[in-house]
Amino acid sequence: MLRMNPVILEEVMPKPIPEAPGALPLIGHALPLARRRTQFLASLAELGGIVRINMVGMPAYVLTDPDLVWRVLVSEGRNYHRGRMFDKMTEVLGNGLATISGKAHHETRRILQPTFHHQKVASYASIMTGVADAVSSAWRAGQVIEVDQAMNDLTARVVNGILFASEMGARAADAIQLRLPEVMKGMLTRTLIPGAWQKLPLPANIRYDRANQEMHAAIDEAIAAYRAEGKDHSDMLSTLLALRDDDGNPMTDQWIHDQVITVAVGGIETTSAALAWCLHQIGVHPEMEQRLHAELDEVLGGRPPEFADLPRLVYTGRIVLEVLRMHAVAVYMRRTLDLTQLGEFELPAKAEIIISPYALHRNPRYFPDPDVFDPDRWASEATKKLPKGAYIPFSAGGSKCIADNFAILEITMALAVICSRWRLRGVPGKQVKEITTGATRPDRLPMIVAARTPAMAV
Ligand code: HEM
Repeated sequence: MLRMNPVILEEVMPKPIPEAPGALPLIGHALPLARRRTQFLASLAELGGIVRINMVGMPAYVLTDPDLVWRVLVSEGRNYHRGRMFDKMTEVLGNGLATISGKAHHETRRILQPTFHHQKVASYASIMTGVADAVSSAWRAGQVIEVDQAMNDLTARVVNGILFASEMGARAADAIQLRLPEVMKGMLTRTLIPGAWQKLPLPANIRYDRANQEMHAAIDEAIAAYRAEGKDHSDMLSTLLALRDDDGNPMTDQWIHDQVITVAVGGIETTSAALAWCLHQIGVHPEMEQRLHAELDEVLGGRPPEFADLPRLVYTGRIVLEVLRMHAVAVYMRRTLDLTQLGEFELPAKAEIIISPYALHRNPRYFPDPDVFDPDRWASEATKKLPKGAYIPFSAGGSKCIADNFAILEITMALAVICSRWRLRGVPGKQVKEITTGATRPDRLPMIVAARTPAMAV
C-alpha cells in the first residue's frame, strides 16, 4: 500500500476552512449579518485567517488575515472579479467604474483617472471649504444640529458642486441629494435578501424604485442639456462629455450617466459618515479637541484652510486616519473565477469572498485596544510597520478608491472650517448607535453647537 509522508501530505493538501458557528437552517447567518453585521464579522478573526459563513443558503468566505486580503486585492487580484454585492449595485450604478471587472474596468479607470489626478483634486479644495462654510455658518450657538444629516448635506453639495457647475444640473443635484439616501438603504438590503422579495409591492421596495427612477431621470436630463448646449462648464460633467475612447469617439450618454451616479454613490455617504464620526469623537474627547484647536489656530491663524495646509494639519490628519480605522466601510466583495489556491487554502470556482475593513481594523493583534479612539496610534512605530492589508479604508490594488485623496482633502478641509468656528457637544443622554448601509455611520447624531473664539471668517 502506498503511504504518503505526513509532512508531504500537509504540504499538498489545502488546509480546511473553519465554519462560523450559529448558522440556522435555511437562513444561515442572516440574523447576525442583518442585526450586528460588523461585530459578527469582527468576531471571526478568532476562528482563522479565512472563515466560511452562510449567507441565506449561499456560502461566503470572510478574510480576516491581512496577508490573504492583500493577495486577493493586489498581488493575486487577477484571479478575482467583483462579487455579489457589486452585482446588486449594478441595478443602480449600471456599468460605472465601481461595478465592472477585468479589462472593462481597467479601461474605464484609465479614462477616468485624470478626473481624480492630484492637481485636479487640489483645485476642488475651494469648493469644499466654500460648502463647509455655507453649511456651518448657518448654525447658531445653542442650536441642536442633526450632524449626520448636516454632513450628508455637506458632502452631497461638494459632489454636486464638482459634478455640475451649471444650473442645467440643478435638478440632478437635488435628486441626488434628496433621493440617494433611500437608494443606498435599499441597495444594501437587496444584497442580503433573495431576489424575489425585491419584486413584491412592499412600501420599502416602492420607495426604493421611485427614488431610483427619479434620480436617474434627472441625471439623464442634465446630460442631454449639457450635450445640447456644448459649452465647457469646467466641471466633472463637462470633462466626462469631452472624454474620448481610444478610437477618438465621445463616450455614450449611458456611460457618462453610469459614471456620474457612481461618483455620487461612492462619494457622498462614505465621506459624510467619516465627517460625522470625526465630529462625534472630537465632541466626546475634549483633550483631543483642545489639541485640534491649537493646531488649527497655529496653522491657519483664523484664515480659511487651503490645499497647501494639508501637510501641516498633522493632528487633524491623525484624527481622520483613526476615524477611518474605527468606523470603516463594513464590507466589499470579490469572487473567484475558477478553483483558486489562496495561501494554504483552496476556494471553489465562483466563491463569494467578503473583505471587511471594519473587522480588519478592529483586530487587536494589529491595533491594540481596538475599541479605543486614539489618534496618536498613528504616530507610533508599530502602526508604521503594519502588515499590508491590515489598514485598508480605501481598499487596495486596481480597484482601490479612485478618490482617496479627494476624500481625505474634503474631510480635512471641512473639519478645519467647522472646528475653527464651532465646538460641538453630544446631547446629554443620547446614545449614538452605529448602523451600516454603504458606509458605517451614526444612526442619528444630534449635537449642540457652542461658539469658539476667535471665530473664523471664510
Ligand atoms: C471616506 C470616504 C471614502 C471611503 C472610505 C471610500 C471607500 C472606498 C472603497 C473601500 C472602495 C473600493 C471597493 C473595492 O475595492 O471594491 C472605493 C471605490 C471607489 N470610490 Fe471611494 N471611498 C470614499 C470616498 C469617495 C469619494 C469622495 C468618491 C468620489 C468623489 C469615491 C468614489 C469611488 C469610486 C468611483 C470607486 C470605484 C473605484 C474602482 O473600482 O476603480 N469614493 N471607495
